[in-house]
Amino acid sequence: MIEQKPCYILAIESSCDDTAAAVLKNDVVLSNSIANQSIHEAYGGVVPELASRAHQQNIVPVVDQAIKKAGISKEDLNAIAFTRGPGLLGSLLVGTSFAKSLSMGLSIPLIEVNHLQGHLLSHFIADGNPNPQFPFLGITVSGGHTQIVKVTNHFTMEEIGRTQDDAIGEAFDKCGKVLGLGYPAGPHIDRLAKEGNPTAFRFPIPKVEGLNVSYSGFKTAVINFLHKNKQNNEAFIEENLADLCASIQYTLIEIIFTKIVKALEQTGIKEIAIGGGVAANSGLREKLKTTAIEKGWTVHIPPFAFTTDNAAMIGIVGYLKYRQESYARLDQAATARLPI
Ligand code: KG4
Ligand code: ZN
Repeated sequence: MIEQKPCYILAIESSCDDTAAAVLKNDVVLSNSIANQSIHEAYGGVVPELASRAHQQNIVPVVDQAIKKAGISKEDLNAIAFTRGPGLLGSLLVGTSFAKSLSMGLSIPLIEVNHLQGHLLSHFIADGNPNPQFPFLGITVSGGHTQIVKVTNHFTMEEIGRTQDDAIGEAFDKCGKVLGLGYPAGPHIDRLAKEGNPTAFRFPIPKVEGLNVSYSGFKTAVINFLHKNKQNNEAFIEENLADLCASIQYTLIEIIFTKIVKALEQTGIKEIAIGGGVAANSGLREKLKTTAIEKGWTVHIPPFAFTTDNAAMIGIVGYLKYRQESYARLDQAATARLPI
């Protein structure tokens, strides 16, 4: 048998507020560097113009660090993968332009990657965990996306459910903001919820057809509820913080969870792979794990570093496309909207 030469892929991700670069040797991650932008904390959300400026400052040191940590030199690279979309256009432009310039400078192929495919295919990174078996349901729950996808093979994906408005992570963050928690609020709510009662306060579950979900009405219900209770008691939030976090988290999870169950029943699939920042939520993980045992599902949850936005997940798609010689042209532009 002829042994295939290993390939080294540099991957660049800049779709939102994290500047990330990774180097993969085939499907193995050699380095996974990230520069988070703390500047947005003061605004309680990502400010697009500030994000793209910070990407410009971060991209060279982050790429340099990823190549050094991988223990290779840039001349060893075989291809460069970059996030083409979806995301914030100004942010995407920084990564896209940088990837194009470097690929021209090194005379190596360029590979475009859909960020959403990256979240779903992150499960194929060689990290010691078994890969999902096709077909499986890919669930992406993040600050920008909430979707249920039927994954038939690496590049045949069909979105069968999505949010009609806000993403689940956005709902965590917006509820956290009115509770006075820092940004992003998801991890704070998760931590505080552990000490609270999830049924202390009841919030309505919106009725949405099919496998779609909605989160914007929930956020308004929480704001109105807090406003009403604060009129009677100024200290309502402080006195009930843990119970509020537990009840909010319970409902946010319930909204997507009922649709995941429905999607599995409808498709007959028993394998789920979850990704995106909210996949780090301990309530969601626990619920998936216990229900999986009851119902005989197989659940894949990637390691934390590959769950939130990162470049390793862009690199694995790059590697899979490199094997097919599926390269990008230099005129393929960054695009804010890109279906899976
Ligand atoms: O995937 P990600 O890093 O970036 C986007 O593509 O949006 O996800 C960030 C989101 C934020 O909304 C953050 O609050 C949420 O993931 N998040 C969590 C947790 N950790 C991060 N939400 C709930 N519980 C957590 N433990
Ligand atoms: Zn993402």
